Amino acid sequence: MPVIGDRVPPGPKGLPLVGAALALRSDPLAGMRGMARQYGDIVRFHVMMRERILLNHPEWINQVLVAQHAKFHKSELTRRITTRMLGQGLLISEGDFWRRQRRLAQPAFHRSRVNGYGGVMAETAAAHIRGWRGGEERDIAEEMTALTLDIAVRTLFSSTLPGEARQVGRAMTFLMRYSLSRQRSPLRIPENWPTPKNRRANRELAFMDSLVYRIISERQADGNSSSRNDLLALLMSALDEDGTQMTPQQLHDETMTLFIAGHETTAQMLAWTWYALGQNPAVEARLHEELHGLLGGRPLEAADLSRLPYLHAVMNEVLRLFPPAYIMAREVVESCELGGYQFGPGTTIIFSQWLTHRDPRFYDDAESFRPERWLDGLADRLPAGAYFPFGDGPRRCIGQGFALLEAAIVIAALAQRFRFRLAPKHPVVAEPLVTLRPRHGIRMRLEAWQ
Ligand code: HEM
Repeated sequence: MPVIGDRVPPGPKGLPLVGAALALRSDPLAGMRGMARQYGDIVRFHVMMRERILLNHPEWINQVLVAQHAKFHKSELTRRITTRMLGQGLLISEGDFWRRQRRLAQPAFHRSRVNGYGGVMAETAAAHIRGWRGGEERDIAEEMTALTLDIAVRTLFSSTLPGEARQVGRAMTFLMRYSLSRQRSPLRIPENWPTPKNRRANRELAFMDSLVYRIISERQADGNSSSRNDLLALLMSALDEDGTQMTPQQLHDETMTLFIAGHETTAQMLAWTWYALGQNPAVEARLHEELHGLLGGRPLEAADLSRLPYLHAVMNEVLRLFPPAYIMAREVVESCELGGYQFGPGTTIIFSQWLTHRDPRFYDDAESFRPERWLDGLADRLPAGAYFPFGDGPRRCIGQGFALLEAAIVIAALAQRFRFRLAPKHPVVAEPLVTLRPRHGIRMRLEAWQ
């Protein structure tokens, strides 16, 4: 029994067998919020007879991610959803293996190296919007996926994927829906049965694998990986203590992890940015003024970042209200105490950026998009664990600096030229897949700034 002792956190009883699965399946965000409101900061519930603990207070989130981090691993739940695609990559590996891989990848994400990617980021963004004209309509979510993929592949792997970027977006959408609906479903048909969905999943996985193997084999054919400075060069030239290199499988897993983690979340952040700006013309105008005032139409460079406070505030606010990583999970590996409850090994603990970032105890007018809230030192006043779009502790996102520079450069490139308005009647619905995505994309009309 994962909860140890007499004290058991409150929570819904749910139906026998399925527990809270039905409520969470129809609307996971509302389901989690409902439980938090009704039962408080530590909630115990069941999904398909499996126990889950939902933490809904920064204090406990900080305990798990930072103060007592060694007592937790990535959860079985996370692994089940991602392993088929990411294998033992950085995102889900553990222990010494994870430490070694993280040490290895870290130099590619040092600030000076990341800032060095700025030029390619700006060139790629400029090329992507070269043909865009005022008056036309685009699915801005699809555009952001294609653009961030292009940037990730160019910077991290010095490669390109001409023509395939949009297909990657569609493959990712299908694979996320597929793996989550398998987890949430009471009936789990084995993956190797030839159902139409299983067959499509295999095709999409094979497509993604073929791209990653192509990136690797192009470089191997090149024969001089160490003369390049990118992430793939670091991964390929890294030697184990015994002098052996990564196996082809390890290289595949790490490359796939960076390939996906390196673009998917930033794409969603940018898609939600255009939506939020379109809904808030006064914010959009102030941002345009700040950007145009400093840059006068030229691309943003890393050195400009410290002089663009409103841009930072807009990015913070987008990541608060629309956190691309909206939920995290951990599994207890060493008994721990949180809020007076004892949790034993095997307990699955979840917590959600979506919930915490919208908690009125920590944010005034929590549901409104108000970048101004960040301009007077809010970040320093918030308790640890109240704002964590990039996670925290030793497993904090390795790509945070990369993502923020990229987002700033893309926002500056587009927001200096265009305003974006939602296409009439286009429904915008946040779909909590592995990342928080707009279910029907975001169709927007472009208006050129005069
Ligand atoms: C807005 C963009 C991004 C967001 C919101 C985001 C969010 C996160 C979060 C919340 C985690 C922690 C997961 C956990 O502890 O369970 C994480 C980890 C990670 N992210 Fe990001 N990320 C973003 C961009 C990126 C980029 C651009 C890259 C790579 C270029 C990247 C690579 C990774 C990797 C490899 C990890 C695992 C790190 C480890 O466990 O050592 N992410 N990210």
